[in-house]
Amino acid sequence: MRGPETDDVRAAAEEFLELFAAENPRADRIGPRIVAVMREIDLTGTYWHTPEELAFGARVAWRNNARCIGRLYWRSLQVRDLRTVGDASGVAGHCFDHLRVAHNGGKIRPMISIFAPETPQRPAPRIWNEQLIRYAGYDQPDGSVLGDPRYESFTSELVRRGWKPPSDPGAFDVLPLVVETVDEGPRMFQLPARSVHEVPLEHPELKWFADLGLRWHAVPVISNNRLLIGGVSYPAAPFNGWYMGTEIGARNLGDDDRYALVPEVAQRLGLDTSNEASLWRDRALVELNRAVLHSFRAQGVTITDHHTESRRFLVHVEREEKAGRSCPADWSWIVPPMSGSLTPVFHRHYDTEELVPNFFADPDAASRGLRGCPAAFR
Ligand code: ARG
Repeated sequence: MRGPETDDVRAAAEEFLELFAAENPRADRIGPRIVAVMREIDLTGTYWHTPEELAFGARVAWRNNARCIGRLYWRSLQVRDLRTVGDASGVAGHCFDHLRVAHNGGKIRPMISIFAPETPQRPAPRIWNEQLIRYAGYDQPDGSVLGDPRYESFTSELVRRGWKPPSDPGAFDVLPLVVETVDEGPRMFQLPARSVHEVPLEHPELKWFADLGLRWHAVPVISNNRLLIGGVSYPAAPFNGWYMGTEIGARNLGDDDRYALVPEVAQRLGLDTSNEASLWRDRALVELNRAVLHSFRAQGVTITDHHTESRRFLVHVEREEKAGRSCPADWSWIVPPMSGSLTPVFHRHYDTEELVPNFFADPDAASRGLRGCPAAFR
């Protein structure tokens, strides 16, 4: 199979195996391993990572991900080697286990489940959803959306494909998981209750806050990114850390094109919303975010605030520098969406080169996560 297509795989494999050897000094001698891998690529067009290479590759993909502020703990990522699983119900079942094991009674464990790789012989399974748990968004007759407007198109596509929403639709209905394989096409799987852990939101002082009926899921498991290690692609490799409060309080619940709750919270707070200079938006956003952090803590679910996480990130950058590595970071993603300049990550520049291993959001996969199309096969 030697040819221009496998030349890239060979080069990427060699670069990765050298990185693995350099950072794992106790590993076996690298020379024979490279020879064996090159031979395997010549014969099959790809190669099979050792479990150690796989775990290292996944951890380094996290370490290299420029958008993540939470990388201090990259070495602690738990890796579930599920490369022999490639059928839709197998993938779905292990995803549901992942949610339970990662939740860990509230003490969230960073974890990745790696399913069958892409090979010249057989394409890998695909998970359509952006995350294992996402809330439906339903078009309402008055033009508004009930639920998460981000998933309005995704939800109507799943309904078109036969998903039956609950008889009494709500703002936080968990969407089914869609797993597509080349043999079975896209299949939908309802999440079992034991895999869906959620936190009802209340405010430490404002009693009325609980009446808003807000909630959010405990574990963010990104499920439509492709993990790329040494020239091998793993399109189905869902992974999670734990939440930083602003992701929920500022973005998911605050953004105008998401739950857009800032005006309602401001009104309930009795703020003067006729005058931008009253900073009613900013004040309401703070209370929304206090409610998120308070509720997760009260329920014993791991969460972090943006001040703490910003400091930790700079510790991570410093450690990486000491180890002789650069730490690629995208300022626009690292700086928290509220009170940016109050956090130390705001006040500096970062390296911006792209390193592999890494996670990639391919355009078709991104589109599937938002619109449920195009299908990967046929
Ligand atoms: N921002 C996304 C969300 O609100 C989650 C992205 C990953 N976040 C994380 N803390 N690992 O659902």
